[in-house]
Order: sequence, then C-alpha cells, then structure tokens
Amino acid sequence: MKQLLVTGANGQLAKCIQDAVSSSSDMNFIFTTREQLDVTNKASIQEIFSKNNITHCINTAAYTNVEKAESEPEKAFAINAEGAKNLAEVCAENGTILIHVSTDYVFDGSKTSTYLETDQPNPINVYGASKLAGEAHVQRICKKHFILRTSWLYSQYGHNFLNTIRKHGKAGTQLKVTTEQTGTPTNANDLAAVLLLLVENEQIDFGLYHFSNAGTATWYDFAKEILTRSSELNLSNLAKTEHYRTFAKRPEYSVLSTNKIEKMLNIKILDWKKSLASVIVILETT
Ligand SMILES: NC(=O)c1ccc[n+]([C@@H]2O[C@H](COP(=O)([O-])OP(=O)(O)OC[C@H]3O[C@@H](n4cnc5c(N)ncnc54)[C@H](OP(=O)(O)O)[C@@H]3O)[C@@H](O)[C@H]2O)c1
Repeated sequence: MKQLLVTGANGQLAKCIQDAVSSSSDMNFIFTTREQLDVTNKASIQEIFSKNNITHCINTAAYTNVEKAESEPEKAFAINAEGAKNLAEVCAENGTILIHVSTDYVFDGSKTSTYLETDQPNPINVYGASKLAGEAHVQRICKKHFILRTSWLYSQYGHNFLNTIRKHGKAGTQLKVTTEQTGTPTNANDLAAVLLLLVENEQIDFGLYHFSNAGTATWYDFAKEILTRSSELNLSNLAKTEHYRTFAKRPEYSVLSTNKIEKMLNIKILDWKKSLASVIVILETT
C-alpha cells in the first residue's frame, strides 16, 4: 500500500489533492498543516517519517506571497529553499519519492516562445529565486524526485486571482488589470490529478516537468474570462492597464511547454478557459 504525506494541507493545492483522493483506495494519505509539520523544522519531518512508512511525499507547502517576499527574503528562503532541502534529506534517508511543486517564476520572461524544462532559469524576484534554490536542493539530495513547475494557480479554495476578481466583481469595485504579463492560468484541481497520476504510474522517469493548463492569457484576459463566465457579474467595471505597480518584478512571458508531461503520462491537458469554467460552476453551486 502506498502511503502519501502531503505538506501544506491548508493551502489551495493540498485541498484540491484532498478532493481528488477521496475515491482512491490503494493509497493512504497523511495531510499535514503547517502546525502539524513545519518544513523548516527537520525534526518535525523526521518524527512523522519515523512513525509512518511514507512511500511518497507531495510538497505543496510554500511561501507564496510574491509581493511580500521582496521585503522578507529570509522567510521565503527558509520555507521554499531550506524547507525543500529538509524534506529532500529525510525523503532520501527513507527511500521516499519526493514530488515537489515549483513555479514559472524561476524564469525571467525574456523568451517569446514556451519555456521548456531545459531552458535556463533566471529568476527576477525573491519568490522565484527561493523556489529555484528549493528545486536545486531537491535535485541534488533526493534522486527519486519529480519537480513540477506550474503557473498562475487558482481554485475554489483560498486567496487567489479567481476569488479576488469575483469578490471585487460582486462589490462593484473598479478593476484595473494588467496586460503586461502573459502566462497560463492553471486550475489546481487539474494539477492535483496529475500529481496523483505520478504516484499511481510507476513507469514515469524521475525529473523536472512543466504542468499548466493549455493556452495563454494576460491577467486582464483572465479577469475578463472570470467576469464573463460568472453569472450575475459583468465587465462594466473592468479596465486594462499597462502600468500596474508592484514591488516584485514579474516575468513578462512565462508560458510553460507541457509536451514532456503530456507525452510521459499520455494525457491531453484542458484549455485554461474550459477548466476555469468548471471551477466557477463549483463556486456557484456549492
Ligand atoms: N499560487 C500560485 O499562483 C502558484 C503558482 C505557481 C506555483 N505555485 C506553487 O504551487 C504550490 C502550492 O501553492 P498554493 O497556491 O497551494 O499555495 P498556498 O495556498 O499559499 O498554500 C501553501 C501552504 O503552505 C503552508 N506553509 C507555509 N509555510 C509552511 C511551513 N513552514 N511548513 C509547512 N507548511 C507551510 C501554508 O500554511 P498557512 O496556511 O499556515 O499559511 C499554506 O497552507 C507551491 O509550491 C507554490 O510555490 C503556486
């Protein structure tokens, strides 16, 4: 029986994994919140591993506030780099497969075609740098690893762009949304399903993979689609801006090529607009 540890259980991706596994029978799951397992505390990781025969660890725990990371880099690195290192060390000691989630923000955005796994990362903000450092630890320490880079994650859970735009849409707030960056909104439920496929399928080569939904968008396109697809919301308060000021620099272009994972898992990835529609249905019916 496979025994999975999922870190960061209060986060949106972990919650989507929790939803995706309810019907699965040949896997046992331990979901841990930050209080139950702090990835910056190696002893707390070792303790859980000593009490359970963990075959797979999915690390969704992360410092994800891109803006705040600029003013608290130590904290971002402690969680995203040292935390990943701690997990990699304990996984390596126990022969556990580590599935680590990373980001499109490891790239600088200077490319104009999709980013491949073989492209050179060059983060332009603290969050991206801390996540890249985490990847490097995982690659160096734990041979049996998958690193999945994803982008612009949203879901029915937590604070994310989808929920923020819907909240402002309902309140009638004037929204100015940037057209300066191009990427791919990714449904965390789709990513959760792929993470579980990696666990189920024993024929997959370890290594680095990109996963996002299909297609491309600017944040403005994403907001427009959210408002268009949401009943009782409309576009009347939405405007474009080219100069949305942020502390953190963002890659202008961070569309990920997903060919490698599609081929490896023999899957067809959904277009971001179709996938977004399914999450809006969840939000409007629950
Ligand atoms: N969100 C995005 O747009 C995006 C884009 C690309 C990649 N990613 C990556 O995708 C993964 C999942 O992100 P997400 O959107 O699900 O993030 P999230 O909703 O912010 O969840 C992250 C979780 O990690 C927990 N955490 C923080 N520090 C921790 C620690 N020291 N020990 C244990 N848990 C800790 C947080 O706990 P609290 O609830 O207590 O704060 C939170 O529940 C992350 O690796 C992220 O870098 C995200």
